[in-house]
Amino acid sequence: MVGVSKTGVKQIRLTNFRSYDAMNLVLDDALEPVILTGHNGAGKTNVLEAVSFLTAGKGLRGARLADVAKRTGDDLLVADGDVIKLPARWSVSAKVQTINGEVQIGTGTVDGSERRQIRIDGNPVSKQATLGEVFRCLWLTPAQDRLFCGDPASRRRFLDRLVQAFDPAHATRTSEYNAAFKQWSHLLREGRYDTAWLSALEKQMALSGVAIAASRLDIAERISGYLQEPIAGLFPCPDVSLTGIVEQALQNKPAVLVEQEFADILARSRKNYADGGSVSGPHTADFKVNHRQKNMDASLCSTGEQKALLISIILAQMKAQMNEQGLCPILLMDEVAAHLDVKRRNELFDILHALPAQVWMTGTDVASFSHLTGRAQFFDVEESILSKLVA
Ligand SMILES: Nc1ncnc2c1ncn2[C@@H]1O[C@H](COP(=O)(O)OP(=O)(O)OP(=O)(O)O)[C@@H](O)[C@H]1O
Ligand SMILES: [Mg+2]
Repeated sequence: MVGVSKTGVKQIRLTNFRSYDAMNLVLDDALEPVILTGHNGAGKTNVLEAVSFLTAGKGLRGARLADVAKRTGDDLLVADGDVIKLPARWSVSAKVQTINGEVQIGTGTVDGSERRQIRIDGNPVSKQATLGEVFRCLWLTPAQDRLFCGDPASRRRFLDRLVQAFDPAHATRTSEYNAAFKQWSHLLREGRYDTAWLSALEKQMALSGVAIAASRLDIAERISGYLQEPIAGLFPCPDVSLTGIVEQALQNKPAVLVEQEFADILARSRKNYADGGSVSGPHTADFKVNHRQKNMDASLCSTGEQKALLISIILAQMKAQMNEQGLCPILLMDEVAAHLDVKRRNELFDILHALPAQVWMTGTDVASFSHLTGRAQFFDVEESILSKLVA
C-alpha cells in the first residue's frame, strides 16, 4: 500500500435535520472510529445519514430531500382556509480532512425543492460529482443485510455506489442515463412518436449506458483482483460478476460497436415499450455474488454469511482505492454488530481501526464495541442529544 493520509470528519453541524434541531459534533483530530450507541429511535442513523450527504447522491436512505427536514407540529399552517406547508429547509455543514487538506462542506435545501445546494469552502458547486471528488464515502446499512435476496435495483445501487467512490464522475453518467430514459419512456407511453427526439434520447442512453456498464465492469474486475485471497481470516471470498445486455456485450466487443447496437435495440423496442413492454439495459443489470469456499450463490447463504460477503466486497474496494488511488473512502456502518458473531466482529473492528479513513459505527449496545475501548470515540445518543462517553 502506498502512503495514504488519514481522512475524515473533524466537525459536523446539523440544522433542522431529521430529529435534530441543531447539533454540533466536534471529533478528535486523530480521526479515530466514531461509535454512536443508544436506544431505538435515539437518532443514531440520522447522524450517519447526515454524514452521507457530504458526498454526491441521496444519502444512505435514498431519501426525498423534503423528508429530511425536521418535522414539527407547526409544519402545516392554515391561512384563509388554505393549508400551507412550511418550506423544508435543512442543512449539514462539516469540516473534513481530505488527502489535500482541510475542506469546509455545506449542503442542504433552502426551498424544499428536490435540488440540493452544495458549497465547498464557501463556493457554490453545481455538480454533485465535484462533491464526490472531495468526500468519498461508502456505507452498509441494515436494509442491505438481505441485499442478495431482494430486487436487483438495490444491488445495482450498491454496485454503483462502489463505482462512484472510485470514480465520482459515475454520478453524472447515471443521472444523464436516468434522465434520458425517463424522457424516452414518457414520450413512448404518451404515444408521442417524435422520431428525431426519440433517436437523440436513444443516442444519449447508448452513450451514457455504455459508460456506466464499462465502469461497473472495471470496478468488478478490480475488486475481484483483491478477492483472490481471503481479505481477512474470518471473512469469505466472494466471486463477483455482472449480468446485463450491455455489460455482457462489452466483454467481447469494442465500446463504439456496443453503443451502436444498444441504440438499435432501443429503437427497435419503441413499439413494444409503448404498448407496455419492457426494455433491457444498464437499468436492468444485476450484480451477482457467489460464496467461493461454499460454491453457493449469495442469496442462499445465511444472513450473517451474506453480511460477511458484503463486508469482504467493501474491504476489497478499500484496498483497491488505497493501492491504486492513494485514498480510502470514509465508511458508515449502521448496526455493524448485527448478525456477526463476536470473533468476526472483533476481527472487523481491528481492520476498520487500521484503515486510513474514519469509520462511523452505530449499535444499540455499547458492550458490543468493548474491543475498541480506548481506540475509538464513543458517544451515547439519547433523544437526539449526543454525549461523549469516556471509554
Ligand atoms: N424528518 C424527520 N423529522 C423529525 N423526526 C424524524 C424525521 N425523520 C425521522 N425522524 C425520527 O428520528 C428518530 C431517530 O431516527 P434514527 O433512525 O436516527 O434512530 P436510530 O437511533 O438509528 O434507531 P434504531 O436503533 O431503531 O435504528 C426516529 O424517531 C424517527 O422517527
Ligand atoms: Mg438506526
